[in-house]
Amino acid sequence: MSYEIEPDPFEVPSLPGGVIVAADEEDAQERIGRDLMVAAKQAVRERGVFHLALSGGGTPMPFYRRLMIDPLFREMPWSRTHLWIVDERRAPFDSDQNNYKHIHEILVEHSDLPGPNAHPIPVDSPSAAEDYENELREVLAIGGVPDDPDRGRLDFILLGMGSDGHTASLFPHTAALDEEVRWVVDNDGPSVVPPPRITMTYPLINAARVVAFYVLGAGKAEMIRRVASVSEGFETLPCKGIRPASGELGWYLDHAACGG
Ligand code: 6PG
Repeated sequence: MSYEIEPDPFEVPSLPGGVIVAADEEDAQERIGRDLMVAAKQAVRERGVFHLALSGGGTPMPFYRRLMIDPLFREMPWSRTHLWIVDERRAPFDSDQNNYKHIHEILVEHSDLPGPNAHPIPVDSPSAAEDYENELREVLAIGGVPDDPDRGRLDFILLGMGSDGHTASLFPHTAALDEEVRWVVDNDGPSVVPPPRITMTYPLINAARVVAFYVLGAGKAEMIRRVASVSEGFETLPCKGIRPASGELGWYLDHAACGG
């Protein structure tokens, strides 16, 4: 008698950091949401404040909505949270292309996050990148002593991944990938999906305490496979440049993104 062994529907990709494979989107929301809440409570307990940076794009919006309505996440300390934007499109605040517009409507308007703790990227300013970096430096320094290595660390950064391997607005073969000092820069070029972008850079993202990729759907499976392979570098696949220096890196995926 022979038994047919059911093939495993997917393989857990060997990505740098922790890999969490959820059954579906709802499960993925729950897993990243629980970890976000743990990080938030810990930050508030230890430092009195939680610095959260969120990405735009389509994938995380249903998660942001769920954070607002699911009693599971009722203990999120929004009143002690500072909300930052990972990257922004040069599009007015009332444009659907503007990431903050959506995040504001879903999250800021429906939580008790204090108004001054919401930090949109000032897209109207020609020096938006410098302005935002200055704002980050000023706010992240609060309560720290000048040589405290913990100054200038965001607590939790949620990143997406484009099907071309970009993350934040760090697109393949663009100047922003080589930035070693600045925390926020403008980014444009042939591989940047218009409009031009303003983005956090590797130095700021890699200094964070927790960096979480949230990547769902079959459309991302091929790129997840490429990121898990060793052959291509960050110039081609910018999400490979995300390597937190001393923080944690996690990938929150669903079966579909793993080719399942
Ligand atoms: C943006 C993002 C960007 C996004 C990826 C994935 O402004 O578009 O911050 O980096 O996370 O493009 O987007 P999706 O989740 O829509 O595929």
